[in-house]
Amino acid sequence: MRQVVLPIIGTVAAWRTEARALAAEGIAPEHVIWHRGTAPPDLFAGDAPKGQGRSLTIPRAALAEIEAALCHSDPERFARAYRLVLRLNDGLVWGDRSDADIRRVMEQAKSVRRDIHKMHAFVRFREVPSEGRRAFAAWFEPEHHTVEAGTPFFAKRFGDMDWVIATPEITARFDGTLTFHETTAAARPPEDATEELWRTYYANIFNPARVMVRAMQSEMPKKYWKNLPEADLIPGLIRDADRRVAEMAAREAEEAPARRLAVARRMAVPERPVPTAGTLDALRAEAAACTRCPLHAPATQTVFGIGPADAEVMFVGEQPGDQEDLAGRPFVGPAGQIFDQEAEAAGLDRGRLYITNAVKHFKFAPRGKRRLHQKPNGSEIHACHTWLDQELALVKPKLIVAMGATALQALTGSGEGILKRRGQVERMEDGTPVLVTVHPSYLLRLPDPELAKAERRRFREDLEQAARLSRP
Ligand code: URA
Repeated sequence: MRQVVLPIIGTVAAWRTEARALAAEGIAPEHVIWHRGTAPPDLFAGDAPKGQGRSLTIPRAALAEIEAALCHSDPERFARAYRLVLRLNDGLVWGDRSDADIRRVMEQAKSVRRDIHKMHAFVRFREVPSEGRRAFAAWFEPEHHTVEAGTPFFAKRFGDMDWVIATPEITARFDGTLTFHETTAAARPPEDATEELWRTYYANIFNPARVMVRAMQSEMPKKYWKNLPEADLIPGLIRDADRRVAEMAAREAEEAPARRLAVARRMAVPERPVPTAGTLDALRAEAAACTRCPLHAPATQTVFGIGPADAEVMFVGEQPGDQEDLAGRPFVGPAGQIFDQEAEAAGLDRGRLYITNAVKHFKFAPRGKRRLHQKPNGSEIHACHTWLDQELALVKPKLIVAMGATALQALTGSGEGILKRRGQVERMEDGTPVLVTVHPSYLLRLPDPELAKAERRRFREDLEQAARLSRP
């Protein structure tokens, strides 16, 4: 028997090298015992018989699946993969799900990809003290061996900070370069005050009327709960959801312990917009320190709304772009230029408008020196909602203009079908009219010049309608 010992770090690349070498020596799959990390004392010492050597040529699609499946926790995966590459080399057609090896590899590749997706969704960074760039740490327990495949995503997304993701087996470390190390000591982040803020925050945004146990369990299986700072609230919240819905309907506001109430005030997304600051300037100062969602970390600054406190019309965009993030003001980049031109042509005076965004931090993925815009997700929009609510409560515009699906979703709860809804006036819960239009950057992205011209004309018409609707 030939024993092959693969390293803990770089397992897949090592398997590839070993598989090629074994095939070149003509060693049959049944004569190989695969180990990862360490081999048990030489139980089957001795070598394997050699046959006809061959060089492997494997279809790229098959190799990608096989290498994904090699990250699975099944101990048989290395042997199966070696057997399969030899069979593919000998003419087996990739993709035939009636073949047990192919089917198993495809299934395992799928669970590995799902595990990577969960890592992307459920890793929670906490800031740690640092003398240089801002530094963050997270503890995560993947189901499979997904650290090396799953963490480059974070290097792209959080390329301008230092971070560590520790898992029971491997720790990924990023300081401009992503490196992997065997985890030597438990690196679970300490339970401290920040944890409590997280918990309270979670408890506050957790609307029991929206608890969908099945969806929650499929998106966030129990095994991930323990890694979330807010996790030990979840079972109780689910168990209690029905009772809390009934209570919420019936009860008067309940006294919360003073400390919890203080934290809740800071972190809660209010059910109704109750301004915590009495003026836009005070609100802007509060928002400047916002850490309600992870977007604050890589962004340069909070980009708050701008315009007079008694503006009659409030324009809401999606989120600041690269230039807005640097300037600290909304709509100053390319989308802002289109907006300015069309607003002026429509007879709107920008100085009389209040202009803001649904999300106040720039979300981006670094690509070399560039920062590529990324669409904010539902929880980021939700986390930022408190600022928009309070801007609305302070400015009390007569008309709101939602530019694009994100703004429309933040304002009306649904961003679906924006092209069908554009030009129409919808209503906020309090009756304030919301005129729907497209986002100006949509106009920048249209490749067909004729369509771009027509869409720009329609955008101007929407702004002309806004001007009409805001006249006394
Ligand atoms: N896009 C937006 O939605 N808002 C800005 O401030 C800039 C670009």
